[in-house]
Amino acid sequence: MKASTLARWERKVRPFLTKLPPKAVVAQYSAGRLDFLAIPPEAYVPPAELGRTLWGIHFRSPIMNAAGMFKNGECYELVARQGAGAYLGGTGTWNPRTGNEKEGIHLPFAPYPRSRAASNWLGLPNDGDEVNSQRAAGLQRIAGTPIGWSVMGSPDYQGEEKVRHLVGGMRLYEQAGVDFMEINESCPNTSHGKPQDDDLARRLHYVKELFLEQQSRKVPVIVKFSNDTQLEQLPALLDLLFELGYDGVNFGNSSTAYDLRRESIDPHERVLYHFFTKTFGGGVTGRPLKESSLELVAKAVEYLKAGRPTQEFHIIRTGGIETWKDIKESEGAGISLNQWFTGYFAAFGEHQHEVYQQLFQDSKIE
Ligand SMILES: Cc1cc2nc3c(=O)[nH]c(=O)nc-3n(C[C@H](O)[C@H](O)[C@H](O)COP(=O)(O)O)c2cc1C
Repeated sequence: MKASTLARWERKVRPFLTKLPPKAVVAQYSAGRLDFLAIPPEAYVPPAELGRTLWGIHFRSPIMNAAGMFKNGECYELVARQGAGAYLGGTGTWNPRTGNEKEGIHLPFAPYPRSRAASNWLGLPNDGDEVNSQRAAGLQRIAGTPIGWSVMGSPDYQGEEKVRHLVGGMRLYEQAGVDFMEINESCPNTSHGKPQDDDLARRLHYVKELFLEQQSRKVPVIVKFSNDTQLEQLPALLDLLFELGYDGVNFGNSSTAYDLRRESIDPHERVLYHFFTKTFGGGVTGRPLKESSLELVAKAVEYLKAGRPTQEFHIIRTGGIETWKDIKESEGAGISLNQWFTGYFAAFGEHQHEVYQQLFQDSKIE
């Protein structure tokens, strides 16, 4: 069966699949979801007016995939041909990781299609920075689709060793020629809980001293936080990034505020939601994050305008992006780059490789 036919078929049966016993649904969807993606035969080029230049890098459209979609450097040519504004590989860690397994399920994932949401508890599976930086170096560049990489201090190391390896990985991606990097400070899916709570400031200082100040060429580094970040936390987080010379911030990652997000889950999908969050925990993604991500980035833009750091600093929005209207709302808030994950796969189910083309269609009727 052709890959695109399979994706269409999957979209039709999705709402019914979630009526199966919760564990059967999780087992069906977990462990690797890229097998239906094959390179589109024709390349789509977004309208030139959607392009933008940040940090001297040209992005040919305002949206790219979020971290975690292409953990091992897969599908660069594919998303470039679809019309993505950039490509983001990773999250990579220094050591290879196989990811989480529980109740006989490897890399647990559950879709909530009626709610346009999902849960996952993957635990950063990836082949490690050495292998993935070589893959990054081998990618054939396509103009207007810069390559970024998401990196993170591996949960398998602690203290000084953890940050040393984080910087070691960043050096490898720098040498591999990536255009920008994103530090994942917000992944809830590791055995140590929430990395942003443990030694964040110390880690960011270390990266400044051993990476930002020692770069052989300028590679912008942004920091990604959770969509559960409280508005009151913004000033301290942003002041830290401004002061240390980081180049941007991304709000943000998946949510562990299960009670709050539950309100956005369709009643038909709450049994599955309850099962997943009780059994695995993990992060909630998709539409339930739409308002939080917009609120966080809007406040961050206000703070940025008042704070005026000396470096070129950008704010990126991730969480619940599905339509051109969402991108317009980001722009209204002063945001020029977006990332999507859950919405991308929902749109792929409907439009296959025309996923960006369809998204940008509505930009023409303004
Ligand atoms: C299956 C899956 C795996 C993810 N893996 C990562 C990851 O490795 N690193 C990361 O920073 N975020 C990861 N995320 C979070 C996304 O990058 C994004 O922040 C989140 O899904 C919210 O965006 P969305 O509402 O468009 O899905 C993952 C999300 C999903 C659904």
